[in-house]
Amino acid sequence: MLDSNADDLAAMADLLGPFAIRVAATLRLADHMAAGVTTGAGLAKQVGAHPATLKKLLRYLVSRGVFRWSQERGYEVTDLGAPLLEDAPGSVRRRLSMDGLLGLAELGLVGLLHTVRTGEAGYKAAFGRDFWHDVSDVPDDANVLAEEVAKELSGDGHLIVHSYDWSRVRRVMDVGGGNGTVLIELARAHPHLHGALLDLPGMAKAAAQRIEQCGLGDRCETVEGSFLDPIPPGFDVYLLSAILCDWPDDDAIKILRRCGEAAGAAGRVLVADMNLIYDDDDADAARMNLLLTGTVPVPVRTLKQLKRLGAAAGLELSWEGPTTRRRTLLEFRAH
Ligand SMILES: C[S@@+](CC[C@H](N)C(=O)[O-])C[C@H]1O[C@@H](n2cnc3c(N)ncnc32)[C@H](O)[C@@H]1O
Repeated sequence: MLDSNADDLAAMADLLGPFAIRVAATLRLADHMAAGVTTGAGLAKQVGAHPATLKKLLRYLVSRGVFRWSQERGYEVTDLGAPLLEDAPGSVRRRLSMDGLLGLAELGLVGLLHTVRTGEAGYKAAFGRDFWHDVSDVPDDANVLAEEVAKELSGDGHLIVHSYDWSRVRRVMDVGGGNGTVLIELARAHPHLHGALLDLPGMAKAAAQRIEQCGLGDRCETVEGSFLDPIPPGFDVYLLSAILCDWPDDDAIKILRRCGEAAGAAGRVLVADMNLIYDDDDADAARMNLLLTGTVPVPVRTLKQLKRLGAAAGLELSWEGPTTRRRTLLEFRAH
């Protein structure tokens, strides 16, 4: 019994499998195999890898049943490995790619010991750089990265688009708007709205591209910058969608203050923040809570804590919207 527990626990703690699968996802090995590149040397050439080492990786993943190898057919994707194909239904390739937002974030778990000791984000401790700045520094991949976020959040978009009275609003700024998913939905649903999106350069560029592609260039613009610096004034609503949850209290208060300053007496700050509600026995929530804390230092806040943040930033709660299981809508105005 003890022996089998030890084996089970050691298997749970084995880091090799997750890393090997993620390297395969990042290098798109499954897609190359499906496209007919089936030798170790051919794959190494295709993905720019060290041939002998790639072969070790392939052999290991064959031993785990992700790929198979035969003399006649070379390397192939198994049923287990099929979700590594980009176009497979329920593909996990992007989610696991180390170039992707979620894959990159999870690398921060290397700093989990630091996180547990200090409460600070493991990502910064491990790599010496803020997670979002790393994300923004890979502009070529920014679209892919932002798509990941958008996919994660799209389920809550309707709350922002349909639960707030946008008829009174002419100009909205989506602060930290990512690839523009929310702003685009807003502009489509409310044709009278004009919008701007502020984000770090990589994301803002990705958003500009998507806005153009959606034919909304005449109503929506993008601004490259940081919400920790002064934000352009003149908008009726400053929207913070899934932003505060990435920041500890001091920074979150600063972001709210920046929005309040920009909004002035007439404007509003609309907070649509993550509001994960946990049950002690909810395994998914327990995983997400620790994962987010280890990567971005997410302090999952209760509604009360969000309201307190607003007050600490000198804002007054002016409206409280509906709450889904994951999101809350709160409107603030400057005193
Ligand atoms: C969790 S995503 C939310 C994206 C979007 N608001 C949504 O709801 O889909 C956080 C966003 O904040 C942006 N961000 C992080 N640090 C920033 C900063 N200092 N200034 C502006 N944007 C920042 C990230 O690039 C990312 O797009």
